Amino acid sequence: MSKPLLVADGLTKHYTVNRGFLKPKATLKAVDGVSFDLSAGQTVAVVGESGSGKSTLARLLTMIEQPTGGTLEIVGKDAAHPGRADAKELRRAVQMIFQDPYGSLNPRKKIGTILEESVVINTDMPAKERKERGQALLSKVGLRSEHYHRYPHMFSGGQRQRIAIARALMLNPRILVADEPVSALDVSVQAQVLNLMMDLQEEFNLAYLFISHDLSVVRHIADEVLVLYLGKPVEQGSKETLFERPRHPYTRALLGSTPSVDPAHRTQRISVKGELPSPLNPPSGCAFRSRCPYATDLCKDERPPLRYVDSRMVACHYAETIS
Ligand SMILES: Nc1ncnc2c1ncn2[C@@H]1O[C@H](COP(=O)(O)OP(=O)(O)OP(=O)(O)O)[C@@H](O)[C@H]1O
Ligand code: SF4
Ligand SMILES: [Mg+2]
Repeated sequence: MSKPLLVADGLTKHYTVNRGFLKPKATLKAVDGVSFDLSAGQTVAVVGESGSGKSTLARLLTMIEQPTGGTLEIVGKDAAHPGRADAKELRRAVQMIFQDPYGSLNPRKKIGTILEESVVINTDMPAKERKERGQALLSKVGLRSEHYHRYPHMFSGGQRQRIAIARALMLNPRILVADEPVSALDVSVQAQVLNLMMDLQEEFNLAYLFISHDLSVVRHIADEVLVLYLGKPVEQGSKETLFERPRHPYTRALLGSTPSVDPAHRTQRISVKGELPSPLNPPSGCAFRSRCPYATDLCKDERPPLRYVDSRMVACHYAETIS
């Protein structure tokens, strides 16, 4: 197997937050010790409830923010603290697709301008070639060349997300980070956009980091799955392993709450019984213990390490016995 395009090791992002007048500052551990590899042609899906750190992780991988700990290597370079020349190359290698296809395209610019923008900024490709590339990608994502001269408001949500995908591909990236790319779309359109992404992945041998709160989408697209709880990895492994036999009570709860039959309700957010603790004051020991039906005193006193059990990594003291 070839070397991974991306290697995250103990990746961490802590924020210092003000809690109010005269109160001491607090540390919010938005991403706390996340490790994984991502290879060409592979999709790693990141799942977890709201506030679990998915978008923060995406901002670290796309170098919008710097980690406060751990290491991040992308295409063999230090992406946590890149030098100027590496930063330029890395920005081309990793592109992002956002959730909101309405907010992410500038309404005052024509599609052609939107597509060509990053090429103008990052390369000295001649105008004619740039336009040809833009039009070729537009047709790759299922739109027509006359759409090049139109404005974003003339397109549906699904079409706009196709445009956002074409834009992300303009610089020939190796990795796409997609933060809930289909969750703002109608259910009927979601599958089309997902299938397009899978076709493009195959054609260009792209690596995807795919964030989703919808496990039926994850089941469709992922190779590997990383489950986060309050910024920490609680279970990670191949899609087959996790879906067939989840070992962490949180993963089990998430899977148990997937609405699988009625497609009309597929976009509802995953949720687990009980209240999510404040990320500023998570429980001692195992952070999941306030909602875990199996919690014991050990869970209160000792944080379960992430360890290898039955073909996956899992952070639960009782991973072998709970099933
Ligand atoms: N700039 C910031 N400063 C302080 N805290 C932040 C900042 N950005 C994110 N957080 C906190 O970090 C945690 C993780 O947030 P993040 O947006 O990564 O979660 P998420 O998994 O993407 O959630 P959602 O599913 O709602 O998009 C949250 O508690 C959030 O409030
Ligand atoms: S370590 Fe304890 S509290 Fe945490 S998930 Fe396992 S059983 Fe539940
Ligand atoms: Mg998010």
